[in-house]
Amino acid sequence: MENRNKIFFHPAYTAGRIDRRLFGAFLEPIGNWVYGGIWNNEHPTADEYGFRKDIMDMTRELGVPAVRLPGGNFTSGWNWKDSIGPRENRRTHLELAWRQYETNDIGHDEYLAWAKSVGTDPLYTVNLGTGTVEDAQYLAEYTRHPGGTYWSDLRRKNGFEKPHEVHTWCLGNEMDGPWQIHSWEKDPKGYGVKSNEISKMIKWVDPTAETVVCGTSTPHNRSYLSWDLTVLEQCYETVDYLSLHYYHPALTGDLKAYLSASDVCEDFLIREIAACDVMQGMLREPRPLMIAFDEYGVSFRKQEKTTVGRAGNIDHSAYSEFGSRLKQPFKHNSLHPSQTRNDGVESEMLESLALCSILMMLMRHADRVKIGCMTPGLFVIGHNEEKVWKRVGYYAYEMLIRYGSRGFSLTPSISCGTYDTDGYNIDDFSQVPAQEGLKYLESSASLDPASRELSVFVINRSCDQDLETQLDLTSFGDLSLIEHKSVYTDDLSVCNTAENPECVVPKKIENTKLSSGVATAVFKKLSFNMLRFRLN
Ligand code: AHR
Repeated sequence: MENRNKIFFHPAYTAGRIDRRLFGAFLEPIGNWVYGGIWNNEHPTADEYGFRKDIMDMTRELGVPAVRLPGGNFTSGWNWKDSIGPRENRRTHLELAWRQYETNDIGHDEYLAWAKSVGTDPLYTVNLGTGTVEDAQYLAEYTRHPGGTYWSDLRRKNGFEKPHEVHTWCLGNEMDGPWQIHSWEKDPKGYGVKSNEISKMIKWVDPTAETVVCGTSTPHNRSYLSWDLTVLEQCYETVDYLSLHYYHPALTGDLKAYLSASDVCEDFLIREIAACDVMQGMLREPRPLMIAFDEYGVSFRKQEKTTVGRAGNIDHSAYSEFGSRLKQPFKHNSLHPSQTRNDGVESEMLESLALCSILMMLMRHADRVKIGCMTPGLFVIGHNEEKVWKRVGYYAYEMLIRYGSRGFSLTPSISCGTYDTDGYNIDDFSQVPAQEGLKYLESSASLDPASRELSVFVINRSCDQDLETQLDLTSFGDLSLIEHKSVYTDDLSVCNTAENPECVVPKKIENTKLSSGVATAVFKKLSFNMLRFRLN
């Protein structure tokens, strides 16, 4: 067992106030994510809109503070006006992002009613693909204006007397991507200008509104970074956040590469923050731009053909099949096994570690990253046609939401063993450069003056070693240990299921000692840990 591992925190080394929206999730009607998933109007618990109350209850219990909706790529072809009012008048359209039928059974008002009901802040994505400036203006008016105009009175007529609580508006989705419906790939300046105008108009309708403009959606795009600079030059003054997305791939079975997600993602984030700061300087803007890391995920992949080398020169033919895997139409209120979100997740435990390591990395950049949306965040709630249960990933995410989102983020100093990974190209979209000196221990912490609690999160990403570690908290004065909880399993293939929902649950670790401000704990290999302390 290693014993030279140390993690040091100091109350003065803060990385900024934590915004609760950093712990958000993402929702899009892809396959059964919405229809046949959280929505099933034939389910015994269905509410007046058709949403499953059993899933809603667990979502409320999880406490996800913000959800970006209604997409995703979907939004770039979606006409919100076709999705309001009586169901019988709603139009079904071909949905080109995912090759589905969109019936609009769930529309603008229902998404927002769902968000209200589960107690989450909706981060609303506006269609900046096929959508016009006028559509966006009326959308803001319908959603936010109290009444006395055609659009606001239409909302009231449709059963929503009060304005919806939408305060954050995302100006499109991945608009640099050639796969996007009406992509702006070839016209970043045009997108920047349009975003500037829409942002102004939304804020004229609602002066409390904040807006998010799309940055680079993957560093493999050929316009990486130059896109961000061109867009920001047009709209820096009127927007509040730059949106970034990152999906980390690794070859199936390569655990070390898979668990390097947070480091690779951090490199991307740091460069994007630098681009914002360059533009701030060029424009002599007093205000730094904040980041909305509003989609992230991880996956194991099989080696595919690569047609290009590194640095983002993806041939357009690579996009022609994008999204064609969903066959339609499918039955809207039943689960289609090949289209559930669980498809392709080899290990719930590993997925949870990789996703939480990204979230902990975002916490360490809390001064700049204010919004985060874990793509599978809502899918830590497992469900079949009858039941709901907590998947393995539920527990670590829930601890981070509950205890990580309060107060200030602290910057750790960590000494421990390291590992390196080779660079790899799995396919044209999945190219990861070599990484050196990745620390086996990852950590983040929140210090909450209101509750006088310090919550420390630690992931041990060593595949073969439990790590005895000293957590040096001597600078915090007198403290006591409230609890050390850990999530791990010796069998990585184990999942929580409807039949066996408690295969992996958090364990209380009893033998962690605190003496003179130094906690000594053993972090099991491939484990997530939370240690909470009270400041006396
Ligand atoms: O998996 C979700 C999709 O991934 C989103 O629609 C898009 O924004 C991203 O490419």
